[in-house]
Amino acid sequence: MTKGSRYPRAVSRRRSFSCALVVLVFLSLSVIILVLLACGILSLPVNSKGSPDAGRRAVRSVYEMERTGRREVQWVEVISWEPRAFVYHSFLSKEECNYLIELAKPNMEKSTVVDSATGQSKDSRVRTSSGTFLRRGRDKMIRSIEKRLSDFTFLPVENGEGLQILHYEVGQKYEPHYDYFLDELNTKNGGQRIATVLMYLSDVEEGGETVFPSAQVNSSSLPWYNELSECGKSGLSVKPKMGDALLFWSMKPDATLDPFSLHGGCQVIRGNKWSSTKWFRVNEYKV
Ligand SMILES: *[C@@H]1O[C@H](CO)[C@@H](O)[C@H](O)[C@H]1NC(C)=O
Repeated sequence: MTKGSRYPRAVSRRRSFSCALVVLVFLSLSVIILVLLACGILSLPVNSKGSPDAGRRAVRSVYEMERTGRREVQWVEVISWEPRAFVYHSFLSKEECNYLIELAKPNMEKSTVVDSATGQSKDSRVRTSSGTFLRRGRDKMIRSIEKRLSDFTFLPVENGEGLQILHYEVGQKYEPHYDYFLDELNTKNGGQRIATVLMYLSDVEEGGETVFPSAQVNSSSLPWYNELSECGKSGLSVKPKMGDALLFWSMKPDATLDPFSLHGGCQVIRGNKWSSTKWFRVNEYKV
């Protein structure tokens, strides 16, 4: 046994050739898989807990567990940046809307407006609805709604005024106005109003939109423009839908007043409008 190789030379050459072939095929497959991954045609199986969709589903199911009987999908829509305004679709359940209406019904009184010179409440033709206040934290259902309003706005529950429930019948409206105060008296408790959440407790057949006449939005290009009343077409408008909540800011992020937040309630043409308002102050509002 003096010669080196255990195998004949020919066999050894064939083996190294097939080895090279295997490596080549392996490399080609790797390249193809990498290209497919890069193009997004192929995706790696990832633990579903890690995907953003799963997170969103989890958040939604938590809300669904909190409120039984909910079917509608909840999502937030940005409608304007000047003013800053957002619609939270299906914020309240049908049961919550009806609960608020029934709670308010026995105590409805003609609405007033604040006289900007004296700060006193006064009767007015610019606001023809009727309404009542529900004390902050008055029962479990209201506390749950107020907690969610706080989560939505990132503002503390303690900065909120009591919920106001409003009723507009055919022909009733609220002319465009600001929610912030221009007098000293009304800012003593809690400071200036920073944001408003307007919740629609009923659908309205025609009219009753919330309109922002000064919004920097081309409102005629909005998908719901053709469903609006004449008043609704005069600016950026939100059509009342039971359970939806409209959040808008009366102050800009630098804490100056935002004149774009001018808004009004269009006249109800057909049907009834029930809504609930939550005003948030800059500081704690003592009840
Ligand atoms: C607003 O939108 C409408 C409909 O899309 C379009 O015809 C019009 O030119 C737009 N106006 C401005 C000022 O951009």
